[in-house]
Amino acid sequence: MNTSSPELKKVVAEADDFLPLLGTDHIELYCGNAKQSAYYYMAAWGFQPLAFCGLETGVRDRVSYVLRQDKIILVLTSPLVADGPINDHINRHGDGVKAIALWVDDAKKSWEETTSRGAESVLEPTERKDDAGHVVLSGIKTYGDTVHTFVERRNYNGIFMPGYQAWNPIQVSQPVGLQFVDHMVGNVGWGEMNTWTEFYARVMGFAQLISFDDKDISTEYTALMSKVMSNGNGRIKFPINEPAEGRKKSQIEEYIDFYQGAGVQHIAVATSNIIETVTALRDRGIEFLQVPNSYYDTVLDRVGSIDEDLAPLRELGILIDRDDEGYLLQIFTKPVVDRPTMFFEIIQRKGAKSFGKGNFKALFEAIEREQETRGTL
Ligand code: FE2
Repeated sequence: MNTSSPELKKVVAEADDFLPLLGTDHIELYCGNAKQSAYYYMAAWGFQPLAFCGLETGVRDRVSYVLRQDKIILVLTSPLVADGPINDHINRHGDGVKAIALWVDDAKKSWEETTSRGAESVLEPTERKDDAGHVVLSGIKTYGDTVHTFVERRNYNGIFMPGYQAWNPIQVSQPVGLQFVDHMVGNVGWGEMNTWTEFYARVMGFAQLISFDDKDISTEYTALMSKVMSNGNGRIKFPINEPAEGRKKSQIEEYIDFYQGAGVQHIAVATSNIIETVTALRDRGIEFLQVPNSYYDTVLDRVGSIDEDLAPLRELGILIDRDDEGYLLQIFTKPVVDRPTMFFEIIQRKGAKSFGKGNFKALFEAIEREQETRGTL
């Protein structure tokens, strides 16, 4: 990680690192049919099967499929029983992210540091062991029904964690070049953005990287506000959005209506070759938001010269933005679940550490066109 940026140095200095985070450990999604979701993430997104738990491993109430692509690990979980907390979560929210699991050196200390600062515990420090060693897990609540799990795995050499067995079905597709989680965005309700950015500051020692008000993030019709929180080493970045008043309904309000509360809006995943990655994803049927072709007539006037040819970026609908440190290329999928809630961002950073402010207007107008078709604008 390049820490020469003045912005990041400031964050490192400001963040009180009582909660050192090594990275994103995994993301757990609760879904209605984990087996078929696993096939979707393998076939379309190029994730590879890693591990499994369920009836065959002695788990009676749930099944989880673990998939990996480079440093990104997804855990897809469905209930095996009629009534229970996973069922309730799916009934209320539809398919969505339950846990943003964070990789730590000490899960007990992480739990103590955060709960002593006011976090609500969902899992006291718990050791799980098998022949390959042990992991320690603990967990706290964050916005909505979402949780953070702390995963300590320095004494574990197994495939994923105790309780899981290796899962090696026939390989269904090749990876598409996704490397790691760049950031994960939470949508929260009216007036709650500061509640949750203060939570990340006070409880987890994060610092605010950037703030956007409704004047930065608005179109003729809709608006939102956003603050980006980062941990001390910059490996974990959580933008938090809330709706803002506009002439029509904010996309954040649409999310809150359909998710029935706060939750993860998008997972941004990094690639080192966005043209190849997006070409592969599109060939496999992933749908992306489209900006008008006129975006490309003027984009280089705004961002200056870039290494890539403009033609394939225009063809694929990839957006470009620049900040003081470089530029970035990004594109957003349409929602990947039935409700208009969770989606993915594919991002390639070429120096830039920001989030594509220059694209907000074109992007949100594209979202409004989708909202219009859904009758939710
Ligand atoms: Fe993003």
